[in-house]
Parts: sequence; C-alpha cells; structure tokens
Amino acid sequence: MSFFTLRAFMIYLFIGAGESCTKINENLHYSCMGRNLSSIPPSIPSSVQTLDFSFNFLKHLQKSAFPVLSFLRVLDLSRCHIKHIENDAFYNVKNLTSLILTGNPVTYFGPGCLNSLYNLQRLDLVDVGLVSLLLQMNNLTRLRELRVGTNNLQSVSLPPFMSSFKDLSLLDLHANNISIIKTDHTVVLRKIGRNMTLILSRNPLLHIEPGAFKDVHLRQLDIRSAFLSFAAQKVGLKALYGLNVKRLMFGNNRDDYKIFPSESDYLDGLCSIYFHEVYYYIKERPSGQINIFRCMINATIVAVKGGLIRGIPYVPFNEIKELYLIHNQLDTVPGRLLSHLHTLEKVVFTRNVATQVETFIDMPKLRYLDLSSNQITLSSCCTEVLLNTPQIRYLNLSLNPQIGLSFQAFVGLDSLEILDFHHTKVVSMGYLSVLSNLKYLRYLDVSYSSIIFTNIYCFYGLSSLNVLKMAGNNFRGDVVRYLFNNLTVLEHLDLSYCRMVEVHSSSFKNLQRLRLLNLRGNNLMAIDFLTHSNLKQLTSFYVDKNSITSIPLDVLQKLPTNLSEFDLSSNPIDCSCSQTDFIFWIIQNQNILKQAENIFCQSFSPSPDFRAADFDIDSCVHKKRLTIILSVCFVILVVVLSVLVYRFQFYLQYCCILLRGYRSPAQQECSYDAFVIFSSYDEVWVMNELMENLENGVPPIHLCLHMRDFQAGKSIASNIIDEGIMGSRKVIVVVSQHFIDSAWCRFEFELAQSRFMMERNANIIIIILEDVEERKTKKVFGLHKHLKKNTYLKWSRDPLSNMRFWIRLRRAIIDTKQ
Ligand SMILES: *[C@@H]1O[C@H](CO)[C@@H](O)[C@H](O)[C@H]1NC(C)=O
Ligand SMILES: *[C@@H]1O[C@H](CO)[C@@H](O)[C@H](O)[C@H]1NC(C)=O
Ligand SMILES: *[C@@H]1O[C@H](CO)[C@@H](O)[C@H](O)[C@H]1NC(C)=O
Ligand SMILES: *[C@@H]1O[C@H](CO)[C@@H](O)[C@H](O)[C@H]1NC(C)=O
Ligand SMILES: *[C@@H]1O[C@H](CO)[C@@H](O)[C@H](O)[C@H]1NC(C)=O
Ligand SMILES: *[C@@H]1O[C@H](CO)[C@@H](O)[C@H](O)[C@H]1NC(C)=O
Ligand SMILES: *[C@@H]1O[C@H](CO)[C@@H](O)[C@H](O)[C@H]1NC(C)=O
Repeated sequence: MSFFTLRAFMIYLFIGAGESCTKINENLHYSCMGRNLSSIPPSIPSSVQTLDFSFNFLKHLQKSAFPVLSFLRVLDLSRCHIKHIENDAFYNVKNLTSLILTGNPVTYFGPGCLNSLYNLQRLDLVDVGLVSLLLQMNNLTRLRELRVGTNNLQSVSLPPFMSSFKDLSLLDLHANNISIIKTDHTVVLRKIGRNMTLILSRNPLLHIEPGAFKDVHLRQLDIRSAFLSFAAQKVGLKALYGLNVKRLMFGNNRDDYKIFPSESDYLDGLCSIYFHEVYYYIKERPSGQINIFRCMINATIVAVKGGLIRGIPYVPFNEIKELYLIHNQLDTVPGRLLSHLHTLEKVVFTRNVATQVETFIDMPKLRYLDLSSNQITLSSCCTEVLLNTPQIRYLNLSLNPQIGLSFQAFVGLDSLEILDFHHTKVVSMGYLSVLSNLKYLRYLDVSYSSIIFTNIYCFYGLSSLNVLKMAGNNFRGDVVRYLFNNLTVLEHLDLSYCRMVEVHSSSFKNLQRLRLLNLRGNNLMAIDFLTHSNLKQLTSFYVDKNSITSIPLDVLQKLPTNLSEFDLSSNPIDCSCSQTDFIFWIIQNQNILKQAENIFCQSFSPSPDFRAADFDIDSCVHKKRLTIILSVCFVILVVVLSVLVYRFQFYLQYCCILLRGYRSPAQQECSYDAFVIFSSYDEVWVMNELMENLENGVPPIHLCLHMRDFQAGKSIASNIIDEGIMGSRKVIVVVSQHFIDSAWCRFEFELAQSRFMMERNANIIIIILEDVEERKTKKVFGLHKHLKKNTYLKWSRDPLSNMRFWIRLRRAIIDTKQ
C-alpha cells in the first residue's frame, strides 16, 4: 500500500518536474512505458541498467536510436511500432542481456542486427511476424531463453549453430503454425543439452514423424492444445516414443467441449515416453472408460485436472510422491485406492464433488492432504479418516459442508502443523478440547465454521500455534477472556466478524508475540483492552467496521509502540469538538492508519462521507473561546445580579411578602390605625405633637412608631413590612428636609406606595412638616407626583390652623376607617 503511494508520488514528482520517465531505482531502473516517446529521453542516465521503453513510437531502429548505454542490461521495446531494424541498431547497447521486442510489426530484420549482442541471455521475439527461426544470431552463444511464440513459424527446426548454445533452457514456440515435425527438424534439439523446456502448446500439430523425439532429452515438454484433433493427439503421443522428459504437460486446454473418443488405449502412447512428472489437463468428457493412469505408474508426480471423470480404478503406482486430482467431478475421495502407497507424500483432491471420504490407511510418508472445496460431510473425523499416517503435517478440509469431530479427533495425527477448516461447519470443536495433543500445530483456520466456543480449554495444548483464524464464529459468555491464555507464541489472531461487543482487558495478556490482531466487523465501542494487554510486538491492528465513536487520548498514547498498521475505517466516528484530541490524533497519524480515507465522521458532520481528517479543529478552538467568553459573561451577570439582590433585598422581600399576601387573600387583622414614616430627626415632633394629639385624643388613634412598636430581634425591613405597612390601615408620611435625605424613609415610602397600588383600601396621608423645595421632592420616588395629585396636610405653628390640622388629620385617618 505504502509502496504504491510512494510510486504514485514519484510519478507525480517526475511529471511535475517536466520529465517523461519514472525513476524506479535511482540511476539503475527507469520506466518510460506508454509515454508516446519517439526517442530515448536525454534524462536517462548512462548508468541505467534496466529500461522499460514499451508502448512508445520508435518505428525505425538505427544506430542513432539509442545513446551509448554500456551498462544497459534489460531493454523492453514491446509494442513500439517498430517496423525496421537496421544492422547496427543495437550497437550502442551491446551489453544487453535481455531484449524484448514483443508485439512489433517487424518487416525487416537487418541480417546481423542481433549478432552484436554477445551477452544476450533472453530474447523475446513474440508476435513480431517471424516466419522462420533461421535468424543470424550465431554470436549469441550465451542465450538461455528464446521466446518466439505467436508468430508464423512452421517448423521447430533450429539453425545448426545453435547446437553449441549449451545454456539454452527455454524455447517457447506456443501459438505458431507448426503442423508437422520430422526427424530432421529435431537434429539440433537432440544435441542442444538436456535441460531445455520446449513449449509447443496451441499449435495445429497434425503429424509427428514416429521417432522424431527419440533420444531427445528435455526438462519439460508442454504440448497442451498442441494437436489439431483428438486423433492427432493419440497418434502424436505414440510418435513421441523414446523421448526422455522430466515433466510432460499435455491434454487439451481449449475451452470448447468435445466428447472424448472412446478407445480405452487412447493414452497408451505415454507408455513409451520416459517421464517423471505428468500433468494431464482435460477439458472434455471421456465417453467410455479410458485408463488414464495405466502409463503413469512410474511417475513421481501425477496431476489430472479438469476432466469429467467419475471414478478412478486401482493404480499400482510404483514411485508416486504427489497426486493431484483437481476439478474432476469425482464423487468419492479414493482413500482405499491410495492406501498402502508407501511413497505417496502429497494428495490434493480439490474442487470435485466428493461427499464421502474413504479411509487412508498405512501411508507412512503422507504429509499433505488437501480435500478442500468438495461436498464432504463427515460425522466423525479425523482419526477415522487417517489411519497410520504418522507424518501427516497438512490437512485441509475447508470449503466443505460439515465435519464432525470425534472425541479423540486427532489422536495419532500428532505431527499436524497446518489445519484448515474454513467455511466448513465444524461440529463440537466449541465445547471439546480435541486439539490438545497437537503440540506442533502452527496454523489453524476455523473461520466461518459455525462454532460457538463455550469451553475455555478449546485451544489447550497448542503450544506452537502461530496463526489462529477464527473469523465469523461466536463465543458464549466471557470465554474469550480465557480462550487464548496458553497460546504464548501466537503471532496472528483473526477474530473478525465474531459479533463481539467488548473484549476483556486480560483476554490477550499472554500473547506477547502477537503481531497481527484482526477485530474487523465486530460491535466494539472501545479498545481500552489494548493498553492493558502485553502486546509489545503488535504491528497490525484492525478494528474497522466496528462501533467506535472515539478513543480517549490516554488509550491512544499507550498504543503498542511498534504499531504500523491501524485500521480504524468504517466506524461511526464522533466529530464533535469534545473529540478534538482524537481527531487531531487521526490527522497526525495518517501514516499508520490503514484506509485512512475511509475514516468518516458519523455524528456532527455536514455529510455522511465527511472524512475525519478533513475536520476543522480550528473551528473548535473558536467555539471554545466563545464558550469561555459566554461563561465569563454569565459569571459577571450573576455577580451583578447578586449585588443588585443584596442592594435591593428589602424590595425583593417585600415583593415576596406581597406575593404571599396574594396567595392568602384572607387579610390579617391590622393591629395599628396608622404607621408613621418619619425621619428620626423629626422624632421630637412626632412624639410631642403627633402622638400626643392622636393617641390621647378621642377616639384614640393607635399609631405604629418604629422606635416603640417594632419587635426586637426582627430585621428592620421585616418590621417595616410586617408591623408597619401590612399591620397598619393607614400610612402617615411626615415630609421634611430630613425625610427627603433619609434612605430609610424613602424606602418606607416606596413600600407604602406599592401597597397602596396593590390594595385599594389603603391610603397614604402626607404631612408636610416643613417646606421642601420642589426639586428635592423629586428625589423621593413618587412623592412629587403624589403631592400633585392628592391633597396633603401642612403643619403650621399657628394655633388656629394648628387645630384645623389636627381635625383634618384625625378625619383623614378615621373617615375611611371601617
Ligand atoms: C503521440 O505522438 C504523436 C506524434 O509523435 C502525436 O501525433 C499523437 O497525438 C500523440 N498521442 C498522444 C496520445 O499524445
Ligand atoms: C560492455 O561491453 C564491453 C565490450 O563489449 C566491455 O568492454 C565493457 O566492460 C562492458 N561494460 C560493462 C559495464 O559490462
Ligand atoms: C560475430 O562474431 C564474429 C567472431 O566472433 C565477429 O567476427 C563478428 O563481427 C560478429 N558479428 C557481429 C555482427 O558483431
Ligand atoms: C499455416 O501454415 C499453412 C501451411 O502449412 C498455411 O497454409 C496457412 O496459411 C498458415 N496459416 C497462417 C495463419 O499463416
Ligand atoms: C535447468 O534449467 C533451469 C531453468 O529452466 C535452471 O533453473 C536449472 O538450474 C538448470 N539446471 C541445470 C542442471 O542446468
Ligand atoms: C515402469 O517401470 C518398470 C521398471 O522400472 C517397467 O518394467 C515398466 O514397463 C514401466 N511401466 C511403465 C508404464 O512405464
Ligand atoms: C486450503 O484450501 C483452500 C481452498 O483450496 C485454500 O484457499 C487455502 O489456502 C488452503 N489452506 C491452506 C492453509 O493452505
């Protein structure tokens, strides 16, 4: 992944720098592929060793086509529209070891054009319109590989000088027009060496002269789809008698379905070919019973692939080591036929339709058994299937319907190292500890095996287990907490899609060698367990497709130090300002985050595909600032309010009392006739004149005077309200200079006015004790207005008006008295 980003980045750099080629390895390896170039760019250094110049426009190759690149070893000129190659075309790149000219419509080869390339080891002339192999390349004595597939060659005959090419190990003639091979075509082949691979596949072979390949020694012969017809193949195989080949690959690999000829001796030709390994690719259905293996009994490796064969007979293989029966429609695993084959080491029986397995008995060398991708249902495995196979290391039963494990499932199979059951329903592994004797088991795959793990000892005894894949299974209770406790050498643990909601912090406590932990596709909300576990070696951690909204900073800080791959994608990440630490971490750690582009914000995001990395943390800083400012404002407001409340506590108290009064309309009995509001400087007048005249007159008027009637121990404000204003029917206000100046008096007057407003039967009687300037009366709230609207009494020392004053005052108090 990082490699590709790096490459992409490099390509970007190069294009950005005005260069036309990609530097893959400084000074050594460059790619100019598909750049529409018509010459080698001067930016390529003369030290270049490998140059990919494919898919450009060169058309005419002459000496000046290449600058002197004496270190150049590999030159790829595939599909460069080259038509004409001059004799000295490669003069400047003499030291080439590989020249690739695939896919050029060459109409003219300069006769000696290749001959200067003494060091050439690989020459690709695929699809260049060649009609003959008689090229002048006698100087290419070091040639190892000659690929001339997809041309119009009609013969396998090589120029005589090639018999000295002792290193030639590959001659690829696939997809040419070779229909006849005669004895004199193979003269050079016979001399050339014994280690050559000859590929003749996809030629229209009709006739091979019998004995044409006698005494030819080849490493490999590939004649898949080399014959024009089934009949030609039958005769052709016979004509190959005397050939000595290590690996023979044959059969028809064309896709057109044809019915096999029914002759049972169809493959008898094989009996006179010496081969060790045989790969038979069938694409057709044999109409009758042919004995496929009759001539293969001396082979060490036998592979039969793709045939519609139903059953196989008993074959007395002499030396077989490996048997591959792949995609053949076989309905039974032929354990009985293969039993007692003491040489057999490996059996691959896959992609058939087998439902049953015959027991493999007495196979002392069998170490590898692959029965994957069949239709196998076993009620009791695996000792029942493998008897006396003490070397068995590899057992693959994946992609089958169902395997039931017996109580002692692996007794006698103690050497098992690799066990694969993925996508096969495995019965009873979840509650038995059947694996306990597999102390060499390195690899266990039970992914999607419908197992519910209930027993904490399921993996007991697996002291060598490196890889454990158990995706798509389930756990009962907190089994996970103990299940892995003794897997101390585990390096790879796959617990994806196990519907886990949480992981206990001690679940992985003994997995000190764990390098990969895959928890993809669960329902985890937290990964705190990582910080408590002892996962020092962890490099890859996948928790994509879970329910993680955020990860606390202290967890992120305690992540394993070697972590280099952390997949957090496809989680419902919370991109709110409270998560800025987390999101900042995401932005900072893009290098370790896998699929970082798929980490989207779920909540607080403008759109569902909004990436966490695009989150604007600065906006959170502004929001934070705003919050601070608002908080400060709030505090200030509270302080101001408190001050105001303190300052006007009496008003507030009064308000409360008024409200209380409203709530209980039953009026309290008034204990005084009038409450007198006056300044203490006017006390003498109040005591001597007002009290004297009113309380001692007839009828006596009971006054409420603060210095006399207020209850001790009660706050002044409460007294004013309870005793004075609420407890009196009338309020007498003694206005004087001192009254105006007194804050208490003003307060009392204001309270009295509020009561007057609230209760209609209340009344305020104003006595002007001494003249006060109009300007000053305005200081007392409401007084000026009151004086203007209502009549008031004015005190005078003149005895006559004095008497009138008292009469009026008494009347004002009593008249409205009920
Ligand atoms: C490639 O180069 C030729 C001229 O050399 C030009 O005509 C053609 O448009 C170019 N093609 C592209 C895809 O740049
Ligand atoms: C290239 O080949 C020449 C002779 O053909 C030789 O002298 C020279 O050393 C070679 N260069 C390299 C780098 O191999
Ligand atoms: C091929 O090799 C011979 C001798 O080894 C030499 O004389 C001749 O020039 C070479 N041909 C080319 C085209 O270099
Ligand atoms: C293949 O060779 C035959 C002669 O052997 C010739 O008639 C035929 O045209 C050739 N086919 C192609 C595609 O060149
Ligand atoms: C035979 O050829 C193969 C490549 O096809 C090569 O790897 C191997 O070393 C060669 N063996 C011998 C003995 O030359
Ligand atoms: C197998 O080898 C034996 C001797 O090793 C030989 O007699 C027999 O003919 C061979 N069979 C086949 C089919 O090659
Ligand atoms: C088991 O077989 C399956 C299917 O053929 C294959 O994909 C898997 O890699 C094999 N397991 C092992 C461990 O080789």
